[in-house]
Order: sequence, then C-alpha cells, then structure tokens
Amino acid sequence: MTMPRTTGSPGNRVAREVFADLPPRYDRLSWLLSFGQDRRWRRAVVARIAGGQPRRVLDVATGPAGVALAVARRTGATVVGVDLNEPMLQRGRRTVEAAGRTGEVVLVAGRAEQLPFDDECFDAVCFSYLLRYVDAPAEALVEMTRCLRPGGTMASLEFFVPPAAGWRAAWRLYVSAVLPVAGWMAGGSAWWRVGRFLSRSIPAHYRQYPLDWHVRAWEQAGLRDVGWRLMSRGGGLVMWGTKEAAP
Ligand SMILES: C[S@@+](CC[C@H](N)C(=O)[O-])C[C@H]1O[C@@H](n2cnc3c(N)ncnc32)[C@H](O)[C@@H]1O
Repeated sequence: MTMPRTTGSPGNRVAREVFADLPPRYDRLSWLLSFGQDRRWRRAVVARIAGGQPRRVLDVATGPAGVALAVARRTGATVVGVDLNEPMLQRGRRTVEAAGRTGEVVLVAGRAEQLPFDDECFDAVCFSYLLRYVDAPAEALVEMTRCLRPGGTMASLEFFVPPAAGWRAAWRLYVSAVLPVAGWMAGGSAWWRVGRFLSRSIPAHYRQYPLDWHVRAWEQAGLRDVGWRLMSRGGGLVMWGTKEAAP
C-alpha cells in the first residue's frame, strides 16, 4: 500500500520531509540523538510489551523497524509495523529480510491518526518518537488504543527534556550545538537540518504538552495503570499502560 505524499496533516508533511533523506544512516542518527542510549531505551519498551506475552503486536511509527524486530525476537509474536514514510518502510523491509524475519514482521504504510486496522485486533501496541509529529496527539492516542484489545499493553518511547537544571543546561547545549554539528559530520546537510529541527521540536512539544498532560491523555484514551520512567537523566521518556476492560 503506497500513500500519496500529499496525504495527511501539516505534522505528517513535516515527518515526511524530516525523514526523507535519513533511512540509510538512521541507526547512527538514533545513536547520536539518544547519547548512545537508544538500545537501552528500546529494551525498556520491549520489556513492557513482552510482559503481556502478546501474539500480535502493532508498532506505530516503526521507521526502519528496529523496535518491531526487537519485539519479534523477544516475544515470538507477529509484529505489524506502520509508518507514513515510504523510504523508511523500504529500509525497514530490507532490514527485516536481512534478519530473516519476513514471516513475523510485516510493514505497511499508514498514519497513526487513522490506522488501517479493526478495533481491538492487537494484544499490544507500541510507538517510538511519534507524538511530536502528530497535530493532535490525544486523538492519535485514542486511535492507537482503539486497535488494542482490552487488557492489552501499550508502551512508548519519546525524547524528553531533563528536569534537573544542571542536566537540562547540558542537554540544551548538546541538542542545540553538538547535535547539529555531529549530525552534519555523520551524514551531511540533511542531518544538520534534523539536528536543528530537534533542538526546537523537543522543548516546544513539552511546553505545549507537559508530562502530566501525557499521563492524562493516556488515561482519557482508555488506558489504566499508566506509568512512566525517565531514562538517562530525562533524555528519554518510556510510558506504559493497560487498556481498560470493556464495562
Ligand atoms: C524518529 S523515527 C522513529 C522510528 C522508530 N520508531 C525507531 O524508534 O527507530 C519517527 C518515525 O515516525 C514516523 N511518523 C511520524 N509521524 C507519523 C504518523 N503520523 N504516522 C505514522 N508514522 C509517523 C516517521 O516517518 C518516522 O519514521
């Protein structure tokens, strides 16, 4: 399924532009952006998903399928990865094939805001680095929860802004000065632009949607026992919750 590049919201267009030139070196980018911590952060999400012993998992904003593959390896579940960015999906398909997991990990084009799946058809849903690209994050959470069966687990990973003043100052310096330059050195001008974009996008997101807002939005989407953990002094945020059983 290929979506026309014009489909979707302003946030969708930003996501397509930002990630258009990145797939070939995406793994290096995630390493840089997470201060070398991305694998550890992802493992925390995968562990939450694995805890529910799912047989069918949805990974939204799957990109080149790193989380989808990790979930498949850890749980043996069938994983459906969804992304709106065709170059990312193409990269992901090559990675899945190289990993010999084409039978377990299936990648399809789609938007978090309008998922092409029936209600309650997944045992678990995860998403990573998604909500900053969505114009109405609360609505996207409702849509992802719709696809989750009652009692199923949702888990997510996002960048965050460290709450402690000293770490926050170091983080600001890193994202606004080091990251664009390191990005440029690692991958050229496209990565310079991404570094610049992220240094504005991450703080702007949490000014508009503080952590309390996220917890409330998960609860209002129909998730209970919503928990969160800051990773690496607050550079990352892992969240989880369980879908309420039907009344
Ligand atoms: C930073 S990448 C993360 C990829 C992957 N989750 C990971 O952790 O490696 C963000 C991904 O979100 C996708 N994305 C952004 N907005 C989306 C939306 N509304 N629906 C589906 N995918 C979206 C982008 O195309 C991109 O591949």
